[in-house]
Amino acid sequence: MVEIRMRVNGVMESLDLEPRVSLLDALREHLGLTGTKKGCDQGACGACTVLVDGERINSCLALAVQYDGRAITTIEGVADGEHTHPLQSAFVRHDGFQCGYCTSGQICSAIGMLAEHGAGAPSAVTEHLSADTIELSDAEIRERMSGNLCRCGAYNGIVGAIREVAS
Ligand code: FES
Repeated sequence: MVEIRMRVNGVMESLDLEPRVSLLDALREHLGLTGTKKGCDQGACGACTVLVDGERINSCLALAVQYDGRAITTIEGVADGEHTHPLQSAFVRHDGFQCGYCTSGQICSAIGMLAEHGAGAPSAVTEHLSADTIELSDAEIRERMSGNLCRCGAYNGIVGAIREVAS
């Protein structure tokens, strides 16, 4: 077993884990943060996307022990405690989901993607995104979100929600 410490959604957590445990399983099974979903478990669907120090990763491909000392944000941590994150609200307005299984990964990925494009410091994942710092076409949004699959095909709503927040 290896002891690691991670700041998860602003809370410092200590975990004793076998080295083979993925970050996804550490979050879901050891910390009870089941908002992050397991789809393919092999890096193909994006359902498991979380933010590490503000950058999006597929947590199923990451070993938890690699992230000792890092700051992890899951879907449970993107709101500010009183209000939903702007992307969460926009997904509701635009019907950016049907079954909802991919939604937490879609939203975490979109937060990371927009941060990559000038929406402020990558670690500021819960800040409202600035309206005048990003210009992305729908095609660019689709390309940059191509790692997140939606089996229901709710892509028009997903792109619409991201466009609203980014423009
Ligand atoms: Fe990680 Fe599909 S569960 S990419």
